[in-house]
Amino acid sequence: MCGIVGYVGHRNAKDVLIDGLAKLEYRGYDSAGVAVKTAQGLEVRKRAGKLANLAGDLELTPISGTLGIGHTRWATHGLPNDTNAHPHATEDGRIVIIHNGIIENYLALKEGLLGRGHAFQSETDSEVLAHLIEEKYQGDLEAAVRGALREVRGAYGIVVTHVDHREIVAARTVSPLVMGVGEGEMFLASDVPALLPYTRSMIFLHDGDLVVLSDDGYRITNLAGETQARDVTHIDWDAEAAEKGGYDTYMLKEIYEQPQALTNTLIGRLHDETGEVNLDISLDPASFKRISIVACGTAYYASLVGEYLIEQLARIPVEVDVASEYRYRSPLVNENTLVIVVSQSGETIDTLEALKEAKKYGAKTLGVINAKGSSMTREVDDVLYIHAGPEIGVASTKAYTSMVSAMLLLALWLGRARGSLNAEKGAELLAAVRELPRLVEEALAPERVENITRIAEKYHQARDYLFLGRGVNAPTAFEGALKLKEISYIHAEAYASGEMKHGPIALIDEHLPVVVVATDSFLLEKTISNIQEVRARSGKVIAVVSDGDTEAARHADDVIFVPRADEMVSPVVNAVAMQLLAYHTATALNRDVDKPRNLAKSVTVE
Ligand code: F6R
Repeated sequence: MCGIVGYVGHRNAKDVLIDGLAKLEYRGYDSAGVAVKTAQGLEVRKRAGKLANLAGDLELTPISGTLGIGHTRWATHGLPNDTNAHPHATEDGRIVIIHNGIIENYLALKEGLLGRGHAFQSETDSEVLAHLIEEKYQGDLEAAVRGALREVRGAYGIVVTHVDHREIVAARTVSPLVMGVGEGEMFLASDVPALLPYTRSMIFLHDGDLVVLSDDGYRITNLAGETQARDVTHIDWDAEAAEKGGYDTYMLKEIYEQPQALTNTLIGRLHDETGEVNLDISLDPASFKRISIVACGTAYYASLVGEYLIEQLARIPVEVDVASEYRYRSPLVNENTLVIVVSQSGETIDTLEALKEAKKYGAKTLGVINAKGSSMTREVDDVLYIHAGPEIGVASTKAYTSMVSAMLLLALWLGRARGSLNAEKGAELLAAVRELPRLVEEALAPERVENITRIAEKYHQARDYLFLGRGVNAPTAFEGALKLKEISYIHAEAYASGEMKHGPIALIDEHLPVVVVATDSFLLEKTISNIQEVRARSGKVIAVVSDGDTEAARHADDVIFVPRADEMVSPVVNAVAMQLLAYHTATALNRDVDKPRNLAKSVTVE
């Protein structure tokens, strides 16, 4: 959560900070602030609300200097107001700090500091760090930060500067930080897009790293003061790729990027001749007896599709858990278990901690992850990157379809390697997977989008929605409801279709739109019966139907036709209809889809 930017060099620091923070606003947008070293000292400006408030202030009364740190906040401790915004300064204003994460022992630390005469201005856990560093400071900022962090328990990405030093000291544990290496200038941020306009040479800091940035370079050590060697990674993302590129919102842009994202997920991994996939992972597919998949939110729904696919194709028992539950229930895993973590950001703390928990029991681990260099990628034995590219919109879209596609690859790989999927069936499925970018392109055809927009507008005043789906498409219903909830704020429930009669059927009346995934399936007849059950109770059925299926369409009030796809790959195609329905409902309601209320892109607090 929260975004950090730091700069030291020859440019106007304020411009680099505001520019970078704008690219990180998806990480939180309760308040924003900067501290710039000016001729007068360290000048701090901060404002509650979105970055635009602060940027407006800085236009009116500019600050000028070539070293600074900036922050965009997603509140954890303390209200999202001006005082609690970062940066936090010591009383004499000589030290300023920004902190992402949570200091777990902050109350005990604060008590001690109060007892020793420190006065606090904010309610944040972060301010404790400023005072602690002040107490340790004896002319060496790096040593003071190191000393303070040794007393801290919790998660942090921290940047600090001092009025007497032309340097920024930063450190991380759990919260991500990436450093940008320039010529006579250095950058720091919580995520790559903030730095792309300035440099492509980046260093991903590891847990426990402490770095000092100055005009002439950097030095990385750990909390014991030992030098750490870190590789410089060349980032080949296009700066454009991290911008909106002509679309109204990041979310819409990312929805339309899906054919490309899927191509990237699949590229080089499919071998038509043999019906096999090459995942370039060193795991021995015969070395485990069961699989546990752990994830949160949208990634959890992608994992549920994975469960279905892997069990069907590879005949290995799979269970899927939400990470926040998994880590606290003494999971039954051992060295015969493969634990797969699925995550766009690779930073979600629940998933990261669940992964660490599984490792304690000796499980083998695999990450299905988007963000290169993220914390999870360093914890797992092997990574299957989904290669969806940067996802900025808070509501996940292209990462979801790429995750599901990665699950298809994994299921095929396991099925073939373990002998449960013969070459002929393997080749058939592989051909269906190869079609995905084209099918998704087709699902985004203007006439289809117009139809979905019309349906979204027709029902946008609904108070509730119900989503139903079966088998491999039950998670499609769950994901559809989640997308609608998070960006339109309409209450939505989702059930496996067969469960409807066990309770939710009581909700149905003439005001309730019910989205039913009714694409080609060996269970389609049963789904049509469910549609009839809804209609019989005056519910409004919006059926998602395969092209040309007039029988399924006949029973619905509104129909969303989607390109015909093999049932196993259909969750990817059907998800696009769900995304568009949520998106156009939210825009009909004038919602800020890229920044839905109360949400943040990367949840690095428990
Ligand atoms: C919903 C959404 C969230 C994330 C969840 C996990 O659209 O984006 O539910 O899926 O917070 O995030 P990652 O995949 O980064 O671990």
